[in-house]
Amino acid sequence: MEDLFKKNVAWAESVKKNDPTFFEQLSKQQAPEYLWIGCSDSRVPANEIVGLIPGELFVHRNVANMVVHNDLNCLSVMQYAVEYLKVKHVIVCGHYGCGGIRASVERQKLGLIDNWLLNVQDVQYIHKAYLSEGKDAEAMVDKVCELNVTEQVMNVCKTNIIKDAWGRGQEVTVHGWIYSIADGLLKDLGVNVSSSDEIRSKYHQAVEAINKRYA
Ligand code: CO
Repeated sequence: MEDLFKKNVAWAESVKKNDPTFFEQLSKQQAPEYLWIGCSDSRVPANEIVGLIPGELFVHRNVANMVVHNDLNCLSVMQYAVEYLKVKHVIVCGHYGCGGIRASVERQKLGLIDNWLLNVQDVQYIHKAYLSEGKDAEAMVDKVCELNVTEQVMNVCKTNIIKDAWGRGQEVTVHGWIYSIADGLLKDLGVNVSSSDEIRSKYHQAVEAINKRYA
């Protein structure tokens, strides 16, 4: 563990070298414009991927980047980010080859986490007509990774946190992205929702595009 403390000191020094008052300024307040809801996977570090420094990104991560309506943890992060930090964008970011999605698709038995991943089973159930058996297994996992992002974007949009924000005229857009560990690049899944009226059309467009891509 000593190594981590050494790395920490080196990091803090390098930041201060660039901007001597960085930590002093940051300790006074945070004003991030973005809330990131991503996977816990160690290969998908939120800040690094989008090149943002401390203070610029509010982050919630869990296995398979889920937004579950009775998850007090995720909801609390969202409420604070939207109502107090007034973030302008909520980004749900999945990633290809997600272990949580794979475990669900392959019906792996991993213990307690299987219960959490039942939420991914629900996503597969919703789209079961377009998730035909016998297709390339890897492509199937990636397709569910994409569909899962669109479903989680919907779950964000359905919360009273986002609905109330839109209702009082607060500008906040919900986005669905997917990250490729293989090349480090993000893809916008086209499900960018800024108002209640857009929810259905954006969702259907995005799902249609995904189904076409994997047809
Ligand atoms: Co993952």
